Amino acid sequence: MVAKDSLAKEILARVLTDKVRERLFRPTGEAIGLPGAAYTDPDFFRAERDLTFSRNWVCAGVAGDLPNPGDQIPFEIAGMPLLLVHGNDGVIRAFHNICRHRGAQLVAAPTQRGVVLCPYHAWSYGLDGALLRTPSFCGPGVNTHDGFDPSHHGLLAVRCEMWGPMIFINLDTEAAPLATHIAPLQKRWAAYDFGLLRGGGGLRFTLEANWKLAIENFVERYHLPFVHPQLNSISSVKHTLHITDGDAFVGVGSRNFAPPPITPDHLLPTFPNLDAESLTKAEYVELFPNVMIGVHTNHVYAFIIQPIRVDHTVERFEFFFIGDAAMTPELTQARQQMIDLIALVNGEDIDIVQRLHIGCRSPAMDGSVFSPVMEDTTHKFQKIVVERLLADAGMAVG
Ligand code: FES
Ligand SMILES: [Fe+2]
Repeated sequence: MVAKDSLAKEILARVLTDKVRERLFRPTGEAIGLPGAAYTDPDFFRAERDLTFSRNWVCAGVAGDLPNPGDQIPFEIAGMPLLLVHGNDGVIRAFHNICRHRGAQLVAAPTQRGVVLCPYHAWSYGLDGALLRTPSFCGPGVNTHDGFDPSHHGLLAVRCEMWGPMIFINLDTEAAPLATHIAPLQKRWAAYDFGLLRGGGGLRFTLEANWKLAIENFVERYHLPFVHPQLNSISSVKHTLHITDGDAFVGVGSRNFAPPPITPDHLLPTFPNLDAESLTKAEYVELFPNVMIGVHTNHVYAFIIQPIRVDHTVERFEFFFIGDAAMTPELTQARQQMIDLIALVNGEDIDIVQRLHIGCRSPAMDGSVFSPVMEDTTHKFQKIVVERLLADAGMAVG
């Protein structure tokens, strides 16, 4: 760990130089953003793997990905193979997706079975991670030897906690609990009962761009009139609000989110007990590092960013509607309307974000400037990225 940490520090010092940090932490209108290397350098991405994605609460999926005991879902964050398992006790657990024998990837595709089975030499593990069987480990028909204690060779567990339907993992055994991380955002959204959320579909995109660019694009609405004319017609940039008061979150919102209903008889149920202001409001918040949550009166989505390589990212949207009454066949079209809107909007964003990445490959990309009015959010996200990287590496910002 020490060698890994010193390597990460070296890389951070090389990319986040004194000059880069000084420029970034100026007031928004005078600041200069991160240089291209922060988005394209594989070494920087490796430092993010070891710090950002290993020491923070990372969104790994949603409960609906593995609804039944025995369900096993492989996933990958920044090149690390991981595994989610739904236990017989109903608990969702996370593990490193590697066999304790020779380290083979255990589960390559979603599956359901009573044990986690390695395809190489058929070692099997319980759904709680305990090593159960090591067939013929010491010759045909001899499964073990005296010096081998199976209790020392169970799956390597990763911390795993839930917020509503969202699954979060943290590789850092010392980190504060998820509850501490989400508390300020939960407070902001106290009127929205996430216990009512019912899964209602998803979207998946792949992006040839660095993970941070997807988020930087999501947290500003300056581009709405130019890139998303249809969205701008139902959620105008004129009604934008900015959310910049969190340490671990940043976002935007609309004071007037008003998609026309399919018909007046097909209104989706809304969260109960919202005040008048909230009834027309929508908020879109990036919870560091990798999930953006869109909260509307009648639906919520989790936009999960899965960094795969420095220039390759998987994006998932998972949609949730409010209570069982939202899930009737009569409302299928109304639910689909919300999903189709995001399919359109994010499809429009893909090309733009990929262009940002291409720009970052240029040696001339030494950092952006920000609108002090429209892009304080993107600026803030970059500052959070740097603050957390340096804090996780034990380095000072100034
Ligand atoms: S590597 Fe898994 S059983 Fe051998
Ligand atoms: Fe966009």
